[in-house]
Amino acid sequence: MCGIVGYVGDKNAQDFLISGLKRLEYRGYDSAGIVTLAEDGVATLLRAKGKITNLEEKLAHARREDRIGIGHTRWATHGEPSETNAHPHQAGPIYLVHNGIIENYKELKQQLKEHEFKSETDSEVLAALIDSFYKDGAHPLVNAVVQALKLVKGTYGIAVVSVKQPDEIVVARSGSPLVIGVGHGETMIASDASALVGHTKQAIYLNDGEVATVKSDSVEIKTLKAEPVSAKVEEIETNLSAIQKGGYDHFLLKEIMEQPESLIETLRGRVNEREGTVRLGGPGLSEAQLRKIKHLIIVGCGTAYHAGLLASYYIEKFTPEITIEPVVASEYRYRQVYIPKDSVALIVSQSGETADTLACLREIKKQGVTTIGIVNAIGSTIAREVDGGTYVHVGPEISVASTKAFTSQVVAMVIFGLTIAQAKGVRTSILRPYVKEIAHLPETIRKTLESVKDSVNGLAGKYAAYEHGIYLGRDTAYPTAMEGALKLKEISYVDANAYAFGELKHGPLALIDDRFFEIALLPKGELYDKAISNLQEVLARGGHVLAITNEESFDLPVDDVIRLDVDAELFAPLIMNLVLQLLAYYVTVAKGYDVDQPRNLAKSVTVE
Ligand code: AGP
Repeated sequence: MCGIVGYVGDKNAQDFLISGLKRLEYRGYDSAGIVTLAEDGVATLLRAKGKITNLEEKLAHARREDRIGIGHTRWATHGEPSETNAHPHQAGPIYLVHNGIIENYKELKQQLKEHEFKSETDSEVLAALIDSFYKDGAHPLVNAVVQALKLVKGTYGIAVVSVKQPDEIVVARSGSPLVIGVGHGETMIASDASALVGHTKQAIYLNDGEVATVKSDSVEIKTLKAEPVSAKVEEIETNLSAIQKGGYDHFLLKEIMEQPESLIETLRGRVNEREGTVRLGGPGLSEAQLRKIKHLIIVGCGTAYHAGLLASYYIEKFTPEITIEPVVASEYRYRQVYIPKDSVALIVSQSGETADTLACLREIKKQGVTTIGIVNAIGSTIAREVDGGTYVHVGPEISVASTKAFTSQVVAMVIFGLTIAQAKGVRTSILRPYVKEIAHLPETIRKTLESVKDSVNGLAGKYAAYEHGIYLGRDTAYPTAMEGALKLKEISYVDANAYAFGELKHGPLALIDDRFFEIALLPKGELYDKAISNLQEVLARGGHVLAITNEESFDLPVDDVIRLDVDAELFAPLIMNLVLQLLAYYVTVAKGYDVDQPRNLAKSVTVE
């Protein structure tokens, strides 16, 4: 979604802003802009529709030596993607960039008769509102910002500069992240710490309801109620190599291929294969509290939801006396749900900023239910608001399509389930097979990726020619099929849907024709024969099937088979998902689409 950067210090602000915006490109955007201020207050505003390269073309004719400025990548909500709607927005002497949505912008706009609105955005209304309190510099900028924000309903992360005070940036947040990077003689701001990597390791994460005045050598934070806040400086853990492609053509392929390493980070210190046990410090629940859990709610969106659904299939297999309810956050937040006593909610999010997931977290907390985060982004809003949590530690995930986070989210949740089972006294002999397979998963993933990468690439051209895809699975392979279909549709724009094999006869079988291909996930195990019978029905109707299986005896006359020789029976679907990730990637490459930044999508969905 939208990205914010800002700089005040002794270096060239335009350079920082452009490089910072490029770091935020992965979040998804449709226009970009920067404004810098000279010492005498002359502003240079540059905005362009489309990619940041368009902005750079304009910059080539407007180079300045300014030492302060703010920039933005916009993902349109109010008003089409255009130069006029791009940020920064100007109102009198001030310039503003804004992430989020001002819900009462229409009412506010009616009161701002003196401002001549140029854009269709809610953000320009906020700029004009601040200007109305600023009175051409008669009041400190921060006071004007605070007065304006008190009238605002909605979400925001903002950065504001004024030509009257060209040595400070005022930033504020409510529901949209903002981090302040503290350097030597320079201070930077960003909506995402990745824009700060390589410039400083020291960061201050602003909390909701806080506003900060940022200068080259100071950061002053207070609440909207004017209470001073003492800043907590934290370390940025990300390094430069984590946000570069490292020799791969796309971040997506890099992130798929680095799953052995990212899963090792998820497992570090948490799995004891010899004893057949697991340990998680982050949730902070005592044995007694774990023992009492009777109901587990798992909340997420998109891939995070699929991870929760898949984890629930596993956890219920080995945890007695527990019901598990995986839910889609955008729905759950508005349902009138009774949450039983002794419930715990797992809040699953790669970015830790997803608006719907965050809203659910807040609703659930209001009901007094313990919330545990399964989050990747360190210091993110969800990570900070949950009662306890487990970071998945997969490092920055840049590509919009989530891959390595999914694998680690599933495993982290299964480990959480295992801690409940341990506390409830489930025999180690029942849990040990899960622990053992989990301990070996990084190696299994490494071998699988190496062995299937080229063959999947070889099939991509053929499957790219179909208009529709149907992904089929049973039991743990069903959520896997859902995730595979989501991956394909979001980056290759092929209409793909998943069905439980058993549901075929209840409708989807009618679809089968030459425009469709079918992916059959066929893990060994109890339900293998049932899945084979369902697959026969597809083949009998002329289906074009790509089968993915670890069952040696598989011999049906399908179009293609990917055979997996994996050292994982319980987690075979998670391994099959690697094939689905690679298939989505190579089909998209074959179609020539933008792999890492698919149209219409954003990495971090911070608006409802
Ligand atoms: C996955 O490929 C998607 N781009 C999307 O579904 C994503 O998983 C979802 O928006 C949730 O994001 P989060 O994990 O950052 O909360």
